[in-house]
Amino acid sequence: MPVPGPGYSITIRVEAPPTASAAGDLTSAVGRVGGVITAFDVVESHADRVVFDITCNAMSANHAKDITDGLDALPGVRVRKVSDRTFLVHLGGKIEVTSKVALRNRDDLSRAYTPGVARICQAIAANPEDARRLTIKRNTVAVVTDGTAVLGLGNIGPAAALPVMEGKAALFKKFAGVDAWPVCLDTQDTEEIIRAVELIAPVYGGINLEDIAAPRCFEIEARLREKLDIPVFHDDQHGTAIVVVGALRNALRVVGKDITKCKVVVCGVGAAGSAIIRLLQHQKPGDILAVDIHGIVHPKRDNLDSNLEQIAASTNVEGKAGTLHDALVGADVFIGVSAPNLFGAAQVATMSSDAIVFALANPDPEIDPVEAQQHAAIVATGRSDYPNQINNVLAFPGVFRGLLDAHATSITDAMLVAAANAIADVVEPERLNASFIVPSVFDNAVAPAVAEAVKNAAQAN
Ligand SMILES: NC(=O)c1ccc[n+]([C@@H]2O[C@H](COP(=O)([O-])OP(=O)(O)OC[C@H]3O[C@@H](n4cnc5c(N)ncnc54)[C@H](O)[C@@H]3O)[C@@H](O)[C@H]2O)c1
Repeated sequence: MPVPGPGYSITIRVEAPPTASAAGDLTSAVGRVGGVITAFDVVESHADRVVFDITCNAMSANHAKDITDGLDALPGVRVRKVSDRTFLVHLGGKIEVTSKVALRNRDDLSRAYTPGVARICQAIAANPEDARRLTIKRNTVAVVTDGTAVLGLGNIGPAAALPVMEGKAALFKKFAGVDAWPVCLDTQDTEEIIRAVELIAPVYGGINLEDIAAPRCFEIEARLREKLDIPVFHDDQHGTAIVVVGALRNALRVVGKDITKCKVVVCGVGAAGSAIIRLLQHQKPGDILAVDIHGIVHPKRDNLDSNLEQIAASTNVEGKAGTLHDALVGADVFIGVSAPNLFGAAQVATMSSDAIVFALANPDPEIDPVEAQQHAAIVATGRSDYPNQINNVLAFPGVFRGLLDAHATSITDAMLVAAANAIADVVEPERLNASFIVPSVFDNAVAPAVAEAVKNAAQAN
């Protein structure tokens, strides 16, 4: 059940009669249709009318309209205009380039630009590694997308993906001081994407692939990793896997189970699910059952692509076939990165005691978290309105900070495991409980801890 939130926050400018009851009438009208007022300001006062700005959270665009209509229907009230605060935040984009050098006079210009800059160019031409010392390459990451799998919106293309990539760049800067820049490519051709990234790579110290649909994302990442001398990281795969594996480490600490004895069901074997399975395998779980839209993945199933073939070969020790509901029977852990509303409390009841349920499909999870809590010991989702939010922001800023600081030329599973452990260990034993298995995304300790762990793993490489 959605609740009013800041993602649908509007400011409504209304004129009302100057009566003692005007403010109360307006706030009641918003409350009657379920809006949540977050600010109420008088912007003008006249003998015959008062003008208010009412800022409130809604559940959806339609709900925002209901709130506005409710106010407009009050006697003597007129809605002058409605501003959508989310659109206001996006006017002109969310990031910009700023210069680190002063350009006040001819002297400054001669050093930062010609003729002085020529000597820097020559130094780099003579020693290409100097690019990391003398240019933005040292601290800059490309956030590359083709716009094919954007949030839950699907294939909306490169221009429509840009607001998400800008947001990602803003998060990189805020949490880890990394300068990230969106690169939205107007092609969905695997070869063209690979070639385009190869061509722009000299500027960057790392490539963050984003919102590129499976299964193409696997080939694009693998081929770029072979070709480039900078780390390539598909966040939808590895960012998710890092946070999930970190959260699971803490969840198992809470319930006192050993992963090597656990049966883990991973539902969804796309970008996120495949990477979660591969990273989990480093922890040697008792067994993993992978489940996709066609049921449990096993070697004898028809039409397995190369990704599913690999997964089938390395999971499901008993070669089980069946549905998600079959897979859940006796499972210790459920990890869902698939689709909404696939099971209910009855299926959680069939899981082992002290079951762990991570229902991460966005925006609606595989099971309503409230239903899951009836039988599970620990429940996590991707949502910010429930405890235990699995959010990639816990991983990617620190991961790239560590990679850049280590001048890493590649990325390994050891670095991903180190990042997962670092996130888990930010939650000290005295704070750890069933409702707090991952730190808050605003915990300032997370990115430095992840960066340090990744840097150490990179330098040990
Ligand atoms: N931090 C997070 O919370 C987080 C991170 C990554 C992905 N996700 C969510 O996980 C979901 C999957 O993301 P992705 O990028 O891996 O997508 P994807 O398209 O690459 O993969 C989706 C997978 O789900 C499976 N699937 C679809 N419908 C199913 C059904 N009815 N039953 C079983 N399996 C089904 C598909 O077969 C496929 O294997 C999305 O909802 C995404 O928002 C959440």
